[in-house]
Amino acid sequence: MSEGDKRLKVAVLGCGSVGSQVVRLLLEQVDDLAARIGARTELVGVAVRRLDASREVEVPEGLLTTDAMGLATREDVDLVVEVIGGIEPARSLILGALENGASVVTANKALLAEDGPTLFEAAAKANRDIFYEAAVAGAIPILRPLRESLAGDTVTRVLGIVNGTTNFILDKMDSSGAGFSEALEEAQDLGYAEADPTADVEGFDAAAKAAILASLAFHTRVTAADVYREGIAEVTAADVASAREMKCVVKLLAICELKDGAVSARVHPAMIPLSHPLASVREAYNAVFVESEAAGQLMFYGPGAGGSPTASAVLGDLVSAARNRAANTRGVGESAYADRAVLAMGDTITRYHVGIDVLDHAGVLASVATAFAEHDVSIQTVRQEGRAEDAQLVVVSHRATDAQLSATVAHLREMDIVRDVTSVMRVEGEQE
Ligand code: HSE
Repeated sequence: MSEGDKRLKVAVLGCGSVGSQVVRLLLEQVDDLAARIGARTELVGVAVRRLDASREVEVPEGLLTTDAMGLATREDVDLVVEVIGGIEPARSLILGALENGASVVTANKALLAEDGPTLFEAAAKANRDIFYEAAVAGAIPILRPLRESLAGDTVTRVLGIVNGTTNFILDKMDSSGAGFSEALEEAQDLGYAEADPTADVEGFDAAAKAAILASLAFHTRVTAADVYREGIAEVTAADVASAREMKCVVKLLAICELKDGAVSARVHPAMIPLSHPLASVREAYNAVFVESEAAGQLMFYGPGAGGSPTASAVLGDLVSAARNRAANTRGVGESAYADRAVLAMGDTITRYHVGIDVLDHAGVLASVATAFAEHDVSIQTVRQEGRAEDAQLVVVSHRATDAQLSATVAHLREMDIVRDVTSVMRVEGEQE
């Protein structure tokens, strides 16, 4: 059989906004894909929940099925694309496909972050690939660079804007002065935010992506449960304005760091300097900023969501997995040899921006400074504005552990001279 005669049978599980674009590209580009792979792909089935639902692509007659497991484990299927999402039945479908000898491409960040090792072990046992570039930051190539291009370097930090919905909301708050609810409503009207925005707004989506990034960057296993998470619902217009005063902007960051051989992974809103490359990431775009020992600083930028951009990443993986099938080999699997400890949030090092309403009396500033000093937190700047009987202090600390900083804030809240701690936000993206 010549190279051109080889046929690789492809099953697609799910035909929503990503799946329909995967099907479209598979059908439209079939000749180019054959030339790039060295074997022809043949779409043999598309699993859906309802046969009669309206779809963005016309699936050829006879290919739709509601029997996802039957399709995933069909004996002649070589490649399975899972774009259903969620934990079950996606996990069983992927495991079934691997056991059946198919390679798998998935965009399922929640499953990978919760139970990736089970999938990787099944792929290794079956001697097949499981690729998932589309699971983090949509179309942006970031997992392959971490897994392959940077495999000879030591990555020390990954800072990512990996959720487009929250970046759109924070960008809107920054550019228009809107509050969180108003900006969320606009994001929903424009289709950037779901009717139930919890997964995006509360940082669950970004936390799953942080777990995947940290695992690859640091050659260890990090799950979603290891990731500290805070969403953006508490970010106020005043926080955003205060960030501007400091020549900063508020972003929801996924931060993965290597410190003394241990890793930390966290997702929370943070102020970053306007001069940082991530500050220029506007609207619903994503970007991942990588720091490594030999390469220095790298930035990956692009559309992080949407059917067509996400399908681009899926197709890239499909071509890689298909090339491997055609060559009867498999690509790079999981690299978790480093087996690193995961640091508790309290042990991570950061800086705080704290807004405090205080009485405007002699000695108040000194008392506030003393509270910081008692927890061994050094103050970088203090700004004060008078407000009738009261004053508003904005204190920015130097770097300290998160435990020291949160103890300082708890202490401030108990002081008689403190009327209210109005804002607490971490400051990132700057080395001292
Ligand atoms: N909902 C995500 C976002 C895209 O807003 O970026 C899928 O992960």
